[in-house]
Amino acid sequence: MEAQWLIVAAVIAVVVVLAAVVAMRGRKAGAGQSPGSPEARSPPAAALVVQPAPAQPALAAQPAAYPPAEPVSIQAPEEMTHPVPLGFTGYSKKVALIGDGGVGKTSLVNRFVKGQFDDKYIHTIGTNVKKKTVLLNDEKAEVTLMVWDLQGQRNDPGIIAHMFRSEGAIVVCDVTRDQTFNNMPEWIGLLEKEVGGRVPMVLLGNKADLEEQALIGQTQLQYMASRYGASWHLTSARTGQSVEEAFSELARRMVLKQ
Ligand code: GTP
Repeated sequence: MEAQWLIVAAVIAVVVVLAAVVAMRGRKAGAGQSPGSPEARSPPAAALVVQPAPAQPALAAQPAAYPPAEPVSIQAPEEMTHPVPLGFTGYSKKVALIGDGGVGKTSLVNRFVKGQFDDKYIHTIGTNVKKKTVLLNDEKAEVTLMVWDLQGQRNDPGIIAHMFRSEGAIVVCDVTRDQTFNNMPEWIGLLEKEVGGRVPMVLLGNKADLEEQALIGQTQLQYMASRYGASWHLTSARTGQSVEEAFSELARRMVLKQ
């Protein structure tokens, strides 16, 4: 009987020793986890601080400059693809003819209305109004243009007030003076402020007959026109180049906007 108790006590002692050995091995394995194991990669909870994203610099509004940094896609304004309604007649439209002094505004309207050109420069004082009826769509539609030829001074509030209620505009620069081209946006800005929005416009590079002195050409005009959804022409009041086309195109665009 005594021997039996001794055997039981020995078995219990062996079991206890084995349990102690297994426990020690487990602890060693935990302490030696490889850095790549998921447990080792997880940062302690205190380290989970979400950093705010660094502030992005505000995009400053860049004034459009010529030449543009990227190619500009030039498309014909949508309305140009639609025909003028048949039988459209009896309408008269106010057109503002604007641009710097001496660019040829009076000469253009004289060429358009009277078919004449004069070399003399008679500075316009205030405003002259001339009218002409334009036939469109193979003469099945017509519109009378009341052309307000405005003195070329942007700083005269009296002149600017004459743009009021214009339904369309011809904005002119002189291709031999690039400053007159650079001033076009200012004229357009004044016009849009006065009429309270955008109106159909045709931009003209006039004096195209002076080819050798020209600083402004098709590329610049196209670019400027694309900024405003306008049409453009290189014209000459002296030779008549594209003058009729420019006024007819404006008439057509105004009718289609109606
Ligand atoms: P302001 O009345 O001062 O606003 O000038 P404007 O824009 O009405 O210019 P105007 O028509 O009086 O022309 C000025 C000068 O440019 C005149 O001597 C014109 O003969 C001349 N001119 C106008 N158009 C042309 C053109 O197409 N070719 C050439 N070579 N000269 C032109």
